[in-house]
Amino acid sequence: MILLFGRLLCSGYWPACLLLWFASCPGAKAGPGPGPEERARQLAAQMTLGEKADYLGGVRSMYIRGIPRLGIPEIKMSDGPLGVRQDEASTRYPAGAALAASWNPELARAEGVAMGRDCRARGVHILLAPGLNLHRIPVNGRNFEYLSGEDPFLAARMVVPFIEGVQSQGVMATAKHFAVNNQEFNRMSISAGVDERTLRELYLPAFEAAVKEAHVGAVMDAYNRLNGVFCTENAWLDRRMLREEWGFRGILMSDWSATHSVIPAFRNGIDLEMPSGEHFDQAHLVPLLRSGKLSVRQLNEKIVRVLSSLIRMGFFERPQRDASIPERDPASERTALAVAREGVVLLKNTAGTLPLDPARVRSVAVLGPAAHPGVPTGGGSSYVNPPHAVSVCDGLRAALGPGAKVDAFGVGAGSFGTSRFVCLDDRQQLVPGLRGEYFDNDEFRGPPAQVRTDAHVDFAWNDNGPFPHRLVSAFSIRWTGFFVPAQDGQHLLRARSDDAMRVYLDGQLVINDWEDHGSHTASQIQTLQAGRRYALKVEYRNRAGGAVAQFALAPIDVPAEVATYDAAVLCVGFSNATEGEGSDRTFDLPDNQDDLIAKVEKLNPRTVVVLFSGGAANAQPWIADAPAFLEAWYPGQEGGTAIAEILTGQVNPSGRLPISFDRNATDNPAMRNYPSSDHGSHVAYREGVYVGYRGYDQSRTEPLYPFGYGLSYTKFSYADLTVNRVPAGPAWEVSCRVTNSGEHAGSEVVQLYVTPPGREVDRPPKELKAFAKVTLEPDQQQTVTLMVKDQDLCFYDIKRHAWRLEPGRYLLRVGHSSRDLPVQAEIQEPIISQ
Ligand code: BGC
Repeated sequence: MILLFGRLLCSGYWPACLLLWFASCPGAKAGPGPGPEERARQLAAQMTLGEKADYLGGVRSMYIRGIPRLGIPEIKMSDGPLGVRQDEASTRYPAGAALAASWNPELARAEGVAMGRDCRARGVHILLAPGLNLHRIPVNGRNFEYLSGEDPFLAARMVVPFIEGVQSQGVMATAKHFAVNNQEFNRMSISAGVDERTLRELYLPAFEAAVKEAHVGAVMDAYNRLNGVFCTENAWLDRRMLREEWGFRGILMSDWSATHSVIPAFRNGIDLEMPSGEHFDQAHLVPLLRSGKLSVRQLNEKIVRVLSSLIRMGFFERPQRDASIPERDPASERTALAVAREGVVLLKNTAGTLPLDPARVRSVAVLGPAAHPGVPTGGGSSYVNPPHAVSVCDGLRAALGPGAKVDAFGVGAGSFGTSRFVCLDDRQQLVPGLRGEYFDNDEFRGPPAQVRTDAHVDFAWNDNGPFPHRLVSAFSIRWTGFFVPAQDGQHLLRARSDDAMRVYLDGQLVINDWEDHGSHTASQIQTLQAGRRYALKVEYRNRAGGAVAQFALAPIDVPAEVATYDAAVLCVGFSNATEGEGSDRTFDLPDNQDDLIAKVEKLNPRTVVVLFSGGAANAQPWIADAPAFLEAWYPGQEGGTAIAEILTGQVNPSGRLPISFDRNATDNPAMRNYPSSDHGSHVAYREGVYVGYRGYDQSRTEPLYPFGYGLSYTKFSYADLTVNRVPAGPAWEVSCRVTNSGEHAGSEVVQLYVTPPGREVDRPPKELKAFAKVTLEPDQQQTVTLMVKDQDLCFYDIKRHAWRLEPGRYLLRVGHSSRDLPVQAEIQEPIISQ
């Protein structure tokens, strides 16, 4: 007790100390004390009207304000969902899409626990994760963040343990972005037109499971409008569904600057406006409350909801920072590796290309923009700065051992922060990096306020700007130094900025993006000579608000010696420069990577293509000539190790696609309704429930790789499907025998799909309704039992506004993927009891 008392006192938690001290006094009444709601009500009763109004608006971008006189602590939030985003380094986990691809709910729980611990190590109370928006289209810039894939059942099964994991550590999780923020194009204003059945069957179930099963502490309303009304003030979404139907008692916050009104948002929507109270503050709310236009009762409900949610998490009882957890936690790094190992999906492997046999493959050329150093990730608020990142090249060196020749060719400009520059230091010595002169005005005026060497130009500052302990949002920076090409030929220069950037190479202006603009990328190709020292000057200016300054320079020509290696591992795809929050991405690989792949395939017959992306991309130009192909998503800081282990057979791949991998963007069932039905203000989800494999099945179109697909180095066979009614519940028990009939130990994702009678309404030809991941030794068999609940067989009957179990025969099929289901049985619903 004394120890705990001391710790709380030191951390400034004196009100908690007083409580603790009082409780420990002889004669103090034992007993449970008031519950969280009652305590919240007592606190609310002591707050002034102005205090209450202000409490509903965030402060300093990432906080709920504290009220010291009442012992209400300040609450710290952090993004999410690829790790705990702070200025300092923090474990970067694989993308949500990779976690979904593991089809392993227990791994989702482990990742939740690990992120929860990372939060506690940093004093973070609320993690702004998980992201649950369904992958409706392949080009959504944020698909990579979402652990939902394209299927609501998979999403719900993965998200519940993830949230439970986070919250088990005394950290509140946030289910975001509620709802249908399925594209970044015009996300701040676009209205998604979605019918009720589609919402209930596809886009809401993961949120519903987060609320009803995982008891998520917070939900974040999305930027967009749903059926004409902004999510942050949408009565149907926020009141009817979330609060009334699902019984959500937690905090409903806005996405950052997603609030557009005072009265509708207050009446119909959010409790908490983030990042600050532009609408929810004294100035706006108090007059409306005094005049009776807004109800004080509703204000009190919001206050009590927020406070009781925080109290329930224990935030008033203890310091949130747990110093016993290291900030760089080996347990978190192991979890990041475990997720990467199970998330990578092997999509093609012909003529035994993989695994690479270490006895025969002694030299490997690792190339492409994502090869080395580090591993890429998508851009935006999920970007986490990792303490280290193992590149595919690093991973292969470790996996193949000291005798092997593994060389990285930095071909292609991938992530910012990987280009190699040099500059002169104060003693005129060449050192890595560029010399940065930082001016506290936006026109390079006067002497720089700060001069330093930056290893890379890869910055995103919030409103405070780059100067420590000084708030300067109008500033300019000049970076100077040299670039010395390692090879002859074409090089790509890429500048991404908000507000403006220009680049000089040997005194010549080669990129001139000097008009004020939001974050975007300008590129240039230059032919450079190996070994020559090119003078480089990068100038940047920010006039106000958030600031992005990123620059990369890398060769894009393939060196001929790639032909001399036993194998080529080609790491291509997207990165924070080409895929991320704020805009959608291309379906085609950026920066002429198709040419790069074609050249490498021609030079080296044992070429393995490793794709880094949030989802499907155009593989048509090169897939026929690629002997092997892996989807790596964004595999996190340990990704290079996991990929190398899979390439060399130390780990048998067990990831399965949580999406349909489209052959052409136009095949995707939702793409014909993208990006907008009318020049940008509406997007009509005309495909309805026919998203992903539901749509591919309906139109009888073959995607390049179907939902649920993924190869293993072993083989699994299925037999003896039996179905029994579970006496205790409205459910079916489906069992089948799965055998590892190949030569390696491995894991199979056993997937069960249901074809409904579909006589009353049009229904998707099949839907995922159960799955399990099993690990088997060669020749080992296991009877796998899956449960299918009657509720999961229902469709949403729009006429009756209710879920309905259609009578008739249902076909249950079980197997490897949505298009390979070797065993089946039929059931009849409803069951007539004897
Ligand atoms: C994103 C959210 C994020 C928030 C805070 C917004 O731009 O949409 O996902 O949590 O910023 O960084």
